[in-house]
Amino acid sequence: DGTPVVLLLGGDGIGPEVVEAAAACMQAAARRLGRAIRLEEAPIGGAALEMGLPPLPEPTLRMALDADAVLLGAVGGPRWDGLPGPQRPEAGLLELRRQLGVFANVRPVRMFAGLETTSPLRPEVVAGTDLVVVRELLGGLYYGPRGRRQGPGGPVVFDTLEYDQAQIDRAARFALEMARRRRRSLTLVDKANVLESSRMWRERVQALAPAYPDVAVSFQYVDSCAMRLVREPRAFDVLLCENMFGDILSDEAAVLAGSIGMLPSASLGGRVGLYEPVHGSAPDIAGRGVANPIGAILAGAMLLEWSLGWRDAAACIEAAVARVLADGWRTGDLVPAGGPAPGVSVVGTQALTDRILAAIEQ
Ligand code: NAD
Ligand code: IPM
Ligand code: MN
Repeated sequence: DGTPVVLLLGGDGIGPEVVEAAAACMQAAARRLGRAIRLEEAPIGGAALEMGLPPLPEPTLRMALDADAVLLGAVGGPRWDGLPGPQRPEAGLLELRRQLGVFANVRPVRMFAGLETTSPLRPEVVAGTDLVVVRELLGGLYYGPRGRRQGPGGPVVFDTLEYDQAQIDRAARFALEMARRRRRSLTLVDKANVLESSRMWRERVQALAPAYPDVAVSFQYVDSCAMRLVREPRAFDVLLCENMFGDILSDEAAVLAGSIGMLPSASLGGRVGLYEPVHGSAPDIAGRGVANPIGAILAGAMLLEWSLGWRDAAACIEAAVARVLADGWRTGDLVPAGGPAPGVSVVGTQALTDRILAAIEQ
């Protein structure tokens, strides 16, 4: 009947808690605009393993490929850390990304007004942060040949960082397009002083850049970028990274937004988009009802915009989040070491979500 289908994959730890919050916000925003979404659910990761299924069960994959978009919580946890690589919960997520063909992982990092003092960095450093990490998601160390063998002097292990030109080009074009729609500045993050793969990334970005004369392209080594990110975050607009550099720098950048619990992501490039908060399953706080749902809720907003084309519904959720934060509502991860500031109320996942829902419905 034309109603878009969104597949919810709660996964492990706090994953189901934050996905439930995000689903409620997507439904509320759709309803507010006189539309509807059909939500489906399926197991992935450790949750699937506990049912005697593989980390990406065949029916889950089929539902994802048939959906209009997928929202995922997180996978993994100490319970499954002893399993061999291909049987781990994380292998299910990597296989899902590969099957969906989502090569471009977009991770916006912005400082919401009112959260400047929640970061351990100085408020004048983090104020006004508004950058996007574009992380290549289907290549590099995550998908290259790997192994372990017996050498003459003991065991030998290897992971391989491999990219072909087409993989680099599609990610680079995606990031250049993104820069064009933002502040027209792109920084390629690499280690071109050491790695051959990085040298090819530089060559390809240099080859493609002339087609985007409006975009200022620069290059920075990943080690120095890690430092500059926390020294002068406003210097960055779009950061283009190979897979693992992007994984690491985006968690570092989370400090600029106040907490890892704030960051959403969209994985694009295939027919079906995959949306996730940047954080993991947070086993240390799972089941306690204290997880920050905002990363997942903003991922839901990205889903509405990028997969359903509902920019208005996405804006409605974003405005509700901004409003609730400005009014002083926070989860515990947003409380600085010295305790909450006056006028700030620390609440759990459900209470914060209820505030956001009320703001959406207003
Ligand atoms: P993590 O992101 O789960 O947790 C790091 C720290 O941040 C913890 O102290 C946690 O309590 C806190 N935190 C994370 N999200 C939060 C939220 N929404 N609200 C409040 N606090 C939050 O990273 P980790 O501990 O390194 O990994 C735990 C597990 O999650 C591992 O099994 C890992 O493989 C998995 N993981 C999965 C994903 C994913 O599914 N996309 C991403 C990262 C890690
Ligand atoms: C992320 C996570 C995943 C990754 C893990 C769980 C496989 O850290 O989404 O950032 O490294 O991509
Ligand atoms: Mn990560």
